[in-house]
Amino acid sequence: MPINRSKVVIIGAGFVGSTLAYTLIHSGVASELVLIDINKEKAQGEVADLNHGLSFVAPVKVKVGDYEECKDAKIVVITAGPSIEPGETRLDLAKKNAKLTKEIVQNIIKYTKDAILLIVTNPVDILTYVAAKVSGLPPHQVIGSGTVLDSARFRYLLSEHCEVDVRNVHGYILGEHGDSEVPIWSLTNIAGMTIDNYCKVCRKCSKEHRDEIFEKVKNAAYYIIERKGATYYGVALAVRRIIEAILRNENSVLTVSSVLEGQHGLDDVALSLPSIVGENGIRQVIELPLTEDELEKLKASADKLKEVIKDLTI
Ligand code: 2OP
Repeated sequence: MPINRSKVVIIGAGFVGSTLAYTLIHSGVASELVLIDINKEKAQGEVADLNHGLSFVAPVKVKVGDYEECKDAKIVVITAGPSIEPGETRLDLAKKNAKLTKEIVQNIIKYTKDAILLIVTNPVDILTYVAAKVSGLPPHQVIGSGTVLDSARFRYLLSEHCEVDVRNVHGYILGEHGDSEVPIWSLTNIAGMTIDNYCKVCRKCSKEHRDEIFEKVKNAAYYIIERKGATYYGVALAVRRIIEAILRNENSVLTVSSVLEGQHGLDDVALSLPSIVGENGIRQVIELPLTEDELEKLKASADKLKEVIKDLTI
C-alpha cells in the first residue's frame, strides 16, 4: 500500500491526542487525520467538533478510524494511556503503559512497517524503547517526543528572565523527559553568545538563578497538573513541531528521544539528544561537545531509565 505522505493517525483521543489534532488542523501540514480510541464515542465526539471548524482552516480530512487506517499512514502518533496524577512521576506509569504500548504497537505493525511511530505517552523514553523493541523497526523510525517540550520550557523561562525574545534564546534539555533530565548550560546561547558571555552584557545571573530556572523546567508538568489536572497545550504544540519537521522534510534539530546506538557511549536505552528530523524520521543523532559534568548527568539519566527497563517484561 503506497504511503499517503501527509496522513497522520493519532491513537488516543484524550486531552493530548485531541489537542494535537486541533493544533494540526491549524497547521495545514496534514491532509488527513484519523483518531483512534478504545472509547469510540469519545473519538467520534472529538472528530465531529473538529470537523465543525473545517470551513475556517486549510483543507484536511478528519475522521474516526481503527487500526487498519495505519496501513498508508506516514506517521502514527501514540498518545493513549493514563497520564500522571498529582503526586506521581512519569516513571510511576511505566508498567501499565508499557503493556498498553506493546498491544498498540502490535496492532499497528499488523498494517504497516513503513510509518514513523511517534510516541508521546509517558514515560515517553521507556515507551519509545518498548515501541522500538516490539515493532522491530530501526531506531530512526521510532521517535519519542522526548525533551522537545522541556527544551521549549527552558527557552521560554530563560527568555522571560533575560527579557529577550524566546526565538533568540537557544538551549537544550537532554536525557530523560522527567526528573533526571539535564540542562546543557555550556551550549546555551543568546544572540550567538554563550550564556556566560551574554550575562556579562546583560545583568549578572547567579548560579541560584540558573538553578531556579532549571528547577521550574523540570517541575513544569507537576506545577500544571496540580493546578489544572493535566498538560496538553504545550505538548501538543511540541508534537506538532515534530510532525511538521517530518512531513515537510525540514531536517530540523529537535531534542527527540530514540534508542541510542553508542552515542556518548550509551546504547540499549532511549533518551533525548539533539537529532536531525526529516521525512524518514531521525536522519542523525548529534553528539554535542558536552562538559564532563553534563556527560556524567546524561549517563546518570540513562542509568535511571535502564533500571526501569530492566523491570519490564516486553
Ligand atoms: C509534560 O511534561 C506531562 O510529560 C508531560 O507536560
